Amino acid sequence: MYYDKIKKSADYIREKLSEMPETAIILGSGLGGIVDIMENKTVIPYSEIPEFPQSTVAGHAGNLVVGKIGSQVVAAMQGRFHYYEGFSAKEICHPVYVMKLLGVKNLVVTNAAGGVNRDFKPGDLMIIDNYINFIKVNPLIGENDERLGPRFPDMSEPYAPEILEKAIKSAEKLGIDYKRGVYALFNGPCYESAAEIRAFAALGADAVGMSTIPETIAGNHAGMRVFAISCITNMATGIATVKHSHEEVVRVANEASENLCAWMKDLLASM
Ligand code: HPA
Repeated sequence: MYYDKIKKSADYIREKLSEMPETAIILGSGLGGIVDIMENKTVIPYSEIPEFPQSTVAGHAGNLVVGKIGSQVVAAMQGRFHYYEGFSAKEICHPVYVMKLLGVKNLVVTNAAGGVNRDFKPGDLMIIDNYINFIKVNPLIGENDERLGPRFPDMSEPYAPEILEKAIKSAEKLGIDYKRGVYALFNGPCYESAAEIRAFAALGADAVGMSTIPETIAGNHAGMRVFAISCITNMATGIATVKHSHEEVVRVANEASENLCAWMKDLLASM
């Protein structure tokens, strides 16, 4: 049963920790560096955690790192699971529900994304204020377990307005030139066609990527406050003047990661 598997993972992690995390961060491609600002770290490889999925993508280390950022105990997931790897939506969200069982209240999700909004440029950080689930990958399909959340969760505020406001204040204080917009989920692993990007732009997307929405849905379902940021690593197909490569995505995300770390450190301190 799904719940039992989640509980098995959570029980194992709980045994390894002296303090439980209040906030969890899922780190996207090239953004794993946030763990460098954490103190008193406990590193738990995914491979040791019973029932935990195993990541397969370059740029995703595959560790759960729990430590302190300021006064907050934070659980950082270095590596996440994608639909294109062959995981089901429920497997992708397994870690989110594990966090719920550990008592996590806030879920911060980061990703690398393609810029669809022509005002964006590679290296920009975009606060996600809404999403479009073009591919309908949804972790809630199937039997609902009320211990995890309700059958029909509301999605009128998928990203917690109070965290969003704090993030904006923090960016302004730090002089970070943030963007804000709608993130659209595409299944990947190929990048989108230019015609798909034109269609997504017409339908209101500002950025496109291959993750984040399943975890956003699960976080809301589980009653967490969710906040998400995209690092725009490239302009999307048809807007970009060069062909995409994963190496370039990771390179730009690594470059932006210093700004993102400073921002997250400040935001977490205010949460
Ligand atoms: N499309 C989809 N996912 C991505 C992109 C993109 O252009 N860049 C980084 N992740």
